[in-house]
Amino acid sequence: MLNIAILGSGKGSNAQAILDAIAAHTLDANIVCVLSDVADAFILARARQHGIPALHVDCAPFKTKLDGAAEQRVIEILRQHGAEVLVLAGFMRLIKGGLLAAYAGRIINIHPALLPAFPGLEAWKQALDYGAKVAGCTVHFVDAGTDTGPIIVQRAVPVLDGDTPATLHARIQEQEYEAYPAALRLIAQQKLRLAGRRVLTG
Ligand code: GAR
Repeated sequence: MLNIAILGSGKGSNAQAILDAIAAHTLDANIVCVLSDVADAFILARARQHGIPALHVDCAPFKTKLDGAAEQRVIEILRQHGAEVLVLAGFMRLIKGGLLAAYAGRIINIHPALLPAFPGLEAWKQALDYGAKVAGCTVHFVDAGTDTGPIIVQRAVPVLDGDTPATLHARIQEQEYEAYPAALRLIAQQKLRLAGRRVLTG
């Protein structure tokens, strides 16, 4: 069984999808703790509802990254709880060298675009503004960049006439809820191999 920790800043619907997959026995994993940089993030409330240790980590004075004392605290908590893999689910800060070294090759992220297109904030809106005909989501290993690193799973979502940022994001999120458990299943089953920047499965 794979011991995972989840780190998020928002409502935690991806965390919920992972919880649901575990409850449905389609993912052989255990969520050892949920962490957030936002004290009142709903992701923490969800975790508590499920009896999972849920902790706020104050990331001040930094606004856009996890660094310094907060980074050390996260590493300490992950180790205390026996986390093998760190799952970023809507975590809106950059991960820096200390955590990347401590969990090398064991941090994954989900992004609401077909990377490497549209990294950064509100990727679904970027896709719409650009006139993309196909959007989607990506689960990838995390490196030092913003939404970069070898890709594990992608799901495509057509952009429809009349889509608004909200309708497109909602359809992308439906795919996220399948893509994240699928990626974690591959990791739990150790069916991944890294070949340069690529992830080979099977
Ligand atoms: C998700 O759509 C995820 O792809 C996005 O934040 C949302 C979190 O939703 N992440 C990024 O944009 C990372 N660059 P959730 O809190 O309901 O899971």
